[in-house]
Amino acid sequence: MTSIQIDRRLPDRFFEASLRADALAGLTATPKSLPPKWFYDERGSELFDKITRLDEYYPTRAEREILAAAAAEIATATRAATLVELGSGTADKTRLLLDALRDGGTLSSYVPVDVSESALVTAASRMLKRYPGLQVQAVLSDFTERLGLPEAGGARLIVFLGGTIGNLLPAERAAFLISLRARLRPGDALLLGTDLVKDPAVLVAAYDDPAGVTGEFNKNILRVLNAELGGNFDLDEFEHVAVWDAEAEWIEMRLRSAVDQTVLLPAIELRVPFSAGEEMRTEISAKFRREGVAAELAAAGLELRSWWTDSQARFGLSLSVPA
Ligand code: SAH
Ligand code: AVI
Repeated sequence: MTSIQIDRRLPDRFFEASLRADALAGLTATPKSLPPKWFYDERGSELFDKITRLDEYYPTRAEREILAAAAAEIATATRAATLVELGSGTADKTRLLLDALRDGGTLSSYVPVDVSESALVTAASRMLKRYPGLQVQAVLSDFTERLGLPEAGGARLIVFLGGTIGNLLPAERAAFLISLRARLRPGDALLLGTDLVKDPAVLVAAYDDPAGVTGEFNKNILRVLNAELGGNFDLDEFEHVAVWDAEAEWIEMRLRSAVDQTVLLPAIELRVPFSAGEEMRTEISAKFRREGVAAELAAAGLELRSWWTDSQARFGLSLSVPA
């Protein structure tokens, strides 16, 4: 098999430095929090993949249903030569888009962008195998720092699937969309997946499955801190929590300390006291409404052109272009 060349867009030791900075800032704040991008080492990426197959976790199936129905229309509307995928993960659903662009005769390259090197290599290798002749440029980057858009000729379709934009805080989302818009050229388009507001019971079940896979995924962030910063988090002394914040319209994942404890992180010379019952936020997963998506896009200079939902209106997919 052809080996994958990884294009590293960030300075040397960026990930190490940024993990240290995030851990220091987040663990000394009140309340404590950690950014969700640190879930995704090899194990975290595998756990997320397992989550996508849980009965309770509907977003992946709902978005796949939309893509299966709309991919040909998207290919015709965009005539994209390059598909850039932010937070590509396993890029499982992406094949529906690549098939449609190939069948439309416009596809020449695929650019997955992810912080997880293991996920990137797996996705890029699969695509090379499945689409002979396709140029695959795997970009290891943090899309909140460097987007990694290639300068390729032809129209570019930027896809950001899975509802991952909902893992950014509102101010981070606005900054991300503005920075993306600034890099788009006429003829480029953004395909954005957003999970929709719905019955809180359905939402909470999707983030607190009885098999405990989401709990393991949540605690994986502590394993990452242990492995990378020499920490001594005891995973058994933390409980997975998922709550619906009705005002902010997001699910919040937290880790609750079961006991009074002090955790040591020698690499950043930090002692972190937790009291029994104290909760640390590890992720928000914002849920959207069509008007909100259109407004956030418009605020960044993007015009909503098409909007699709699955048959149960659980998930929304939007196609927008530079206004
Ligand atoms: N798009 C896929 C995967 C979603 S999981 C799907 O729809 O199923 C979220 C993905 O985004 C993971 O692969 C994770 O590694 C990646 N990711 C999270 N934060 C990121 C960041 N700041 N920069 C780049 N990739 C990120
Ligand atoms: C990647 N992201 C869109 C997922 C979500 O639903 O917010 C991550 C996840 N967290 C818990 N389960 C899945």
